[in-house]
Amino acid sequence: MSTSDDRTPPAEPDATAAPSVPAPPPADPSPPTTRPPVTVPPTSSSPAHGGIVARGVRRSFGAVHAVAGVDLDVRPGAVTALVGPNGSGKTTLLLVLAGLLVPDAGTVSVAGHDPTAGPAARAVTGWMPDSFGTWDSLTAREVLTTVGAAYRLTPEHAEHRAAELLDLVHLRELADSPAHVLSRGQKQRLGLARALVHDPQVLLLDEPASGLDPRSRVDLRELLRELAARGRTVLVSSHVLVELDEMADDAVFISQGRTVAAQEVAAVATQWRPWRLRTLDLDALVRWLEAAHVPWQPEPGAPPVGDFSPPDEVRPARPGGVVVQLDTEATAAALLRDAVGAGVPIASLAPASGALESAYLALEEERR
Ligand SMILES: Nc1ncnc2c1ncn2[C@@H]1O[C@H](COP(=O)(O)OP(=O)(O)O)[C@@H](O)[C@H]1O
Ligand SMILES: [Mg+2]
Repeated sequence: MSTSDDRTPPAEPDATAAPSVPAPPPADPSPPTTRPPVTVPPTSSSPAHGGIVARGVRRSFGAVHAVAGVDLDVRPGAVTALVGPNGSGKTTLLLVLAGLLVPDAGTVSVAGHDPTAGPAARAVTGWMPDSFGTWDSLTAREVLTTVGAAYRLTPEHAEHRAAELLDLVHLRELADSPAHVLSRGQKQRLGLARALVHDPQVLLLDEPASGLDPRSRVDLRELLRELAARGRTVLVSSHVLVELDEMADDAVFISQGRTVAAQEVAAVATQWRPWRLRTLDLDALVRWLEAAHVPWQPEPGAPPVGDFSPPDEVRPARPGGVVVQLDTEATAAALLRDAVGAGVPIASLAPASGALESAYLALEEERR
């Protein structure tokens, strides 16, 4: 607090305890300068063994360059998000990786196989299209046993696998209903089961969360996490970032047919980003933040914070929240400890947006 500040120092809560929170960067509009570059490619296990590698992939439809130069490394044992707006080329890229479209240029390796050279790549790939067409005359169970036969499972094995997968995606009650009567979300779940029939090493899922209810979305997340934990390679696209939050280890961002960045989602934990700090006593919190020289902003959409000079008369505490910029979880822990130590009744402190969204926004800012 500057010496020219003639306001009475806040008496309560105790702001004299020296906060150990490093000074955050200047609040918006000037962006922080200390953020590390976001183009950190995922490392660890080699994608050659069970993963996906793409180099210089291009695919056009007439004059439309749907995929115009994609480089991609997707490692096994992780869930990788393929993120980009509508029309950015996600579906076209996934079709190329699934061996369903031949690229105009570039090379692709899926678990060590070239999808354009024979069926080896397809044998280890599970593919879930964005909209799942079903055969009108087949039941959900028959869809799975038919696909099982196509993958050369024995009839007994295919029956067993179908029952197991129908349980897994919670469609047991509808197993013997015609597949075309399923709702969109139920069809998505059947499509996921279909992709898993031959227990593939590589899973390519195009917008799998779209149309799912919240419960099914949680189930999908848990299933994909489990498959990754079992060493599978999982590449999952979405244009809705929140669908992939809590699900993805790595993220690849695609824009206008080109990959623009790849990064480990965990790396976002070491970048400046907004955190939401909520309290039972907004006036006490703001007095403490000011005394501790921690820049803050009102929560978006919150009513004006008003005058936070120490009140002449005792006012009842009013709950509320602010947004602060923090660089690491360690900084967040220090802020929380100091605020609580100073007697501010903190209710919660959490990142204001998901890790994936933060990565995307950081990328956007980088490109400005
Ligand atoms: N079969 C096709 N014929 C012509 N244009 C296509 C075809 N498939 C995709 N496109 C075009 O390619 C671009 C990328 O589409 P797509 O890969 O479906 O993007 P996304 O899945 O990211 O929404 C879009 O401009 C789309 O209109
Ligand atoms: Mg698409």
